Amino acid sequence: MINAQRYGDVTQFIMGRLIDGQPVYTMASYYIDGLLIDTGPVHVADEIEAAFADFPIEQIVNTHHHEDHIGNNIVFQQKRGIQNIYAHPLAMPLIENPALWTGRLRYYQHFAWGDPPPSKVLPLEAVLKTRRYTFQIIHTPGHSPDHICLLEPEQGWLFAGDVFVREKVPTLRSDENIKEMLASLHKLLQYEFSTLYCSSGTVVSNAKAALKRKIAYWEELGEKIIKLYKEGIEPEEIRERLLGKETVLYGPSEGDFGKINLVNSFIQSITNQPDSGEERQ
Ligand SMILES: [Fe+2]
Repeated sequence: MINAQRYGDVTQFIMGRLIDGQPVYTMASYYIDGLLIDTGPVHVADEIEAAFADFPIEQIVNTHHHEDHIGNNIVFQQKRGIQNIYAHPLAMPLIENPALWTGRLRYYQHFAWGDPPPSKVLPLEAVLKTRRYTFQIIHTPGHSPDHICLLEPEQGWLFAGDVFVREKVPTLRSDENIKEMLASLHKLLQYEFSTLYCSSGTVVSNAKAALKRKIAYWEELGEKIIKLYKEGIEPEEIRERLLGKETVLYGPSEGDFGKINLVNSFIQSITNQPDSGEERQ
């Protein structure tokens, strides 16, 4: 399934697999003035040509290497002849050779998004221009080490990839690093923008206020987690007291989306232990 929706000069493409007629684990790509931000999961590859037939794509950016963001790079390269696909230098070997990390994907990731084919990418520079707009590239690690956001300051647009998702997120992926995520969110606060476009499909207006609330929620939670940890409380007990039971995604994701991951990442941020997550690089 690929559904397009306009937000002024920005077109959002919601992409996802249909199971029994229902979309599962959808993501959003964005098209602006010849630029496509992320190419979606390989499971929708057969729909790409028709969905983008009326959109003259001149260049593509991958916000990071995850399988739902790079899966159709090869389709655009081979069927539309687009060779200038850009990503952060840390992402390049992972996009050009996904076998380096796809062996660590969980079942739900294979099922929802699929294994991305290798594709050739070029290194992003600090600024990326389209015919009418100028985007600043901001490195925002934490969700993944290679994650970037695109800021168009004149328009007040921030294309935030997977760094925001929504305000109050009580879970963390097993490979995310909360300390780096918070540092990236604080970094974004230094810039001016009004509308935030997420790869989750959420479009947030009054975006800086929302970003401040997201930071406050995690920082207040982090203080409580660390206080209990220093009192000798075990991580699972901290999770139970502060966040309650795991969400319905915990089982199907084999623990990839877990409240316990958030608790452990805060604890690791003060103990300097290596992240327990299965880092993808
Ligand atoms: Fe991601």
